[in-house]
Amino acid sequence: MSNPFRLGILGSGKGSNFAAIADAVAAAKIPAEIAAVLSDVESAGILSHARERKIPARFIPPGKFRTKLDEEAERQFIEVLREANVNLVVLAGFMRVLKGDFLHAFENRIVNIHPSLLPSFPGLEAWKQALDHGVKVTGCTVHFVDAGVDAGPIIGQQTVPVLENDTPESLHQRIRVAEHELYPKCVAAIARGEISVTGRRVIWKKN
Ligand code: GRF
Repeated sequence: MSNPFRLGILGSGKGSNFAAIADAVAAAKIPAEIAAVLSDVESAGILSHARERKIPARFIPPGKFRTKLDEEAERQFIEVLREANVNLVVLAGFMRVLKGDFLHAFENRIVNIHPSLLPSFPGLEAWKQALDHGVKVTGCTVHFVDAGVDAGPIIGQQTVPVLENDTPESLHQRIRVAEHELYPKCVAAIARGEISVTGRRVIWKKN
């Protein structure tokens, strides 16, 4: 039997995308194993969800900065992911920007989910940005991570209509439902080796 494809999942919050991916792994819809779950927030739901599922989960203190990891934290994240022999780093609500050393350590092997149709509304609270802007359709995007913020090659997108009576919370909730469909599909395609990247274009070899 060939070695399983190994995922390292990073998150700072609830962990609903992690749970969707873990369910898809358990149902053999993603041919992979979750090797490690890491968080920069000790009380994050993602860590308790992982522990309930007996998946190795660890809090790593992020250090002194607010929006990125400090040097020591970055070194620890990289070390734990390397020791776990991770093939793909999956960001699932990880609220810190990854910098040079991390990006080099896992070049072209980091993916993220963002709650808008990129390149519209990068950055924080993208669902609120979409609502405030008045767009009629928004959604979510899975993309490779590069040095920009929410800027790497787009792997998949799913649309979500904006309703007349939406609040930021109701819209984010419907976007989350779309995320839980899209992210497992994209991770499965990568694990199966069905994704190739040419410049900014990501090609799905099978659909
Ligand atoms: C999601 O909306 C995701 O798009 C964004 O952060 C949120 C994470 O939610 N990057 P969860 O922790 O997976 O529930």
